[in-house]
Amino acid sequence: MIASVEIAGVSKVTPRRIVTNSDMEKLVDTSDEWITKRTGIRTRRVVDKETTVDMAAEAVKQALKKAGVKRKDVGLIIGSTITSEYVTPSMADYVKKVLGIDAVAMDLSAGCSGFIYALNTAASLMDTLDIGCAVVVASEAISKYTDWTDRRTCVLFGDGAGAVVLRRSDTACLHYPVMEGTADKDDVLYALREKRPTPFSKVSDVKPEYIHMKGADVFTYAVGVVESVLKKLLQMCGDRPYNKIIPHQANEKIIDYVIRKMDMRHEQCFINIGEYANTSSATIPIAMYDAYEKGWLKKGDRIALVGFGAGLSCGGVVIDWTI
Ligand code: ACO
Repeated sequence: MIASVEIAGVSKVTPRRIVTNSDMEKLVDTSDEWITKRTGIRTRRVVDKETTVDMAAEAVKQALKKAGVKRKDVGLIIGSTITSEYVTPSMADYVKKVLGIDAVAMDLSAGCSGFIYALNTAASLMDTLDIGCAVVVASEAISKYTDWTDRRTCVLFGDGAGAVVLRRSDTACLHYPVMEGTADKDDVLYALREKRPTPFSKVSDVKPEYIHMKGADVFTYAVGVVESVLKKLLQMCGDRPYNKIIPHQANEKIIDYVIRKMDMRHEQCFINIGEYANTSSATIPIAMYDAYEKGWLKKGDRIALVGFGAGLSCGGVVIDWTI
């Protein structure tokens, strides 16, 4: 059990530009059929003028509006990103500046598990620091770190942001935080920062750096941990099991596999990868927003969130939905 908090508002912000699988066919040797069959992805949003930090600020603004929470009441902002334009300050600090919020702010980098890690961290910090209201925002422009000549990775990702507002409540609505990690001994998923020469260290190979992924290995890791986290959460729920799940959206095949293993019905799982592809840590809040706005997520639902990603990392949490 963590602090007695509820989700008071949720938002999403996605770039205007829609890139279809047919658009991808013009960039690399791929096909709409291959991408759709192997991943479930049909389109993705890609930034043009939008930035990671601006999408984050807009997402927080909209989530606060939805929640009816005033900026002065926010005591904590945690940003989740691996693609901020700023080395320092944090994306969360930038959001603070843009929206004029005086609060504790920091970022967390945990790949695609970032939103879950940030949500669980925010809820426990609200307890520790006695904070009444917090915001968790995940924003990613993965397209900036994607090798658009590598068909094995470039078709998989998209850009976007999502945020949730957490508010103290009389009853606890966030339960059973799970955060786990496994050493990535074989470097199955990473992206390096670009090297920079200084007067004291020469760099012979200055080149752009991109996401590297051993897809099959990540797939194997993902299906294993998603199933194990969901089973753990189910066990912890006892006689009040969750009735719906919102998983990280990396490949629809991973999701299908887990639904089968968990003996769940397809309708119990929210899937929007077809529209947005994998937006890294932003996928879960974007999915939460769509699930809520489309009426799939209803007041009284008990949902399990589950994410996995670079690190290797994975995590989950159970939420009683109250809005
Ligand atoms: N278009 C056409 N052909 C392709 C493409 C493409 N876009 N990509 C790969 N291929 C080819 C390969 O070259 C290979 O050809 P070959 O047999 O001639 O060598 C063939 O398709 C099969 O390749 P596989 O890698 O075996 O394809 P697979 O069915 O395993 O799918 C995929 C690859 C989609 C990457 C899958 O492994 C996957 O989804 N892995 C998990 C990815 C993931 O979860 N990432 C999230 C990481 S965490 C985060 O979110 C950042």
